[in-house]
Amino acid sequence: MPKKALIAYASKTGSTKEVAEFISDNLISKHFDTLVMHVDQVKNVKLFDVVILGTSLRLDKPLHESINFAQKFSRDLKNIPVACFALGLTMKESNEETKQKTLSMLQPLLSKISGSVEVGMFGGKVDHQKLPWFWRLLAKKDDSGLMDEGDWRDWDEIKLWTDSLEILDTSEN
Ligand SMILES: Cc1cc2nc3c(=O)[nH]c(=O)nc-3n(C[C@H](O)[C@H](O)[C@H](O)COP(=O)(O)O)c2cc1C
Repeated sequence: MPKKALIAYASKTGSTKEVAEFISDNLISKHFDTLVMHVDQVKNVKLFDVVILGTSLRLDKPLHESINFAQKFSRDLKNIPVACFALGLTMKESNEETKQKTLSMLQPLLSKISGSVEVGMFGGKVDHQKLPWFWRLLAKKDDSGLMDEGDWRDWDEIKLWTDSLEILDTSEN
């Protein structure tokens, strides 16, 4: 029987959702049965052998929906191997400093999950058209360059991370 993987995501403008789908495609090629779902739609996690939880970062925090998910299922997730990934502009450049910064932003989420969690941190995407008008206005006015449009998702890096996940290692079975 193929193992079942849930890839639950929290995403405001779709870029984390696309990464969740990409990870799912990668897992299917490893013979997992996968389900990609928004965190708010998940009713039960006990059916799954592994859970991968993805979120984008906003204002130095994971999206609150992802924290709610981890809180809601914290008891069940004690018995299921979990990995987390996050997308953010801090990871436009990947180095020790940006990784530490992103990891500390993720703490409100990681602290809700007991046991060790494999964590992936990736560059995100900014598409002004997908932002609500208020944020679009601020993003366009921001002259620091931080909110400039662009896509910093490195699909090779995301694939490498997925391929390296110990929670997907089925070799002992
Ligand atoms: C209003 C706003 C605030 C953001 N705050 C952060 C942040 O604090 N740290 C960070 O690394 N990225 C931040 N980002 C970048 C997003 O995490 C990035 O654009 C991500 O790809 C969005 O994912 P989504 O399309 O799944 O919502 C912010 C983006 C927006 C629009």
